[in-house]
Amino acid sequence: MKDCMEIINTRSSIRKYTAEPLPCETVRELVEAGLKAPTAANRQELHFTVVGKDDPVQAEIQKDLNPDAAGNFYYSAPITIYISGDEAFGWSAVDAGIAVENIHLAAAAMGLGSVILGCMKKVLNGEKKAEYAEKLGFPEGYGYQVAIAVGYPDTTKDQHTFDYEKNVTIL
Ligand SMILES: Cc1cc2nc3c(=O)[nH]c(=O)nc-3n(C[C@H](O)[C@H](O)[C@H](O)COP(=O)(O)O)c2cc1C
Repeated sequence: MKDCMEIINTRSSIRKYTAEPLPCETVRELVEAGLKAPTAANRQELHFTVVGKDDPVQAEIQKDLNPDAAGNFYYSAPITIYISGDEAFGWSAVDAGIAVENIHLAAAAMGLGSVILGCMKKVLNGEKKAEYAEKLGFPEGYGYQVAIAVGYPDTTKDQHTFDYEKNVTIL
């Protein structure tokens, strides 16, 4: 297992996966990484929905998103974890962002690849919002916040570069 700084210094978003399925214990560990994330006022309001790559809901979302795309929005990763949050709670989006990063870093520590997915937001919060909420098992009053595709990496990617001077102010 890699240490935290090593993961931060080497992780990247992965967009190509092998067909190998993830063992149940691995999936559980990934979801628990999300559940272990801090939440505002320790509300623990987030809900996690694990969807396999062949579940019909994935194809339906893809069709509503872009029926003509060559690939799919989840890069054929064996699982996608959807995080939904209580829409009446003002911190759900922040909490979901923290939880999804926990899962992303945990995946890297476990030798897996992952990519955070936001591109389905318009579809999942659009005219079929209630239908998708039901299909994805969101609790009542919950809405999609973010998702993450996870699997065994079939590629590597360099880290993104950044501009310290532009993005940082030290007073
Ligand atoms: C909120 C959020 C939404 C994202 N949505 C997508 C997405 O829908 N599809 C995708 O391929 N990558 C998505 N990404 C991944 C970013 O494109 C990626 O983090 C960025 O290009 C930097 O690359 P790196 O993670 O490899 O450093 C998303 C990342 C974040 C934080």
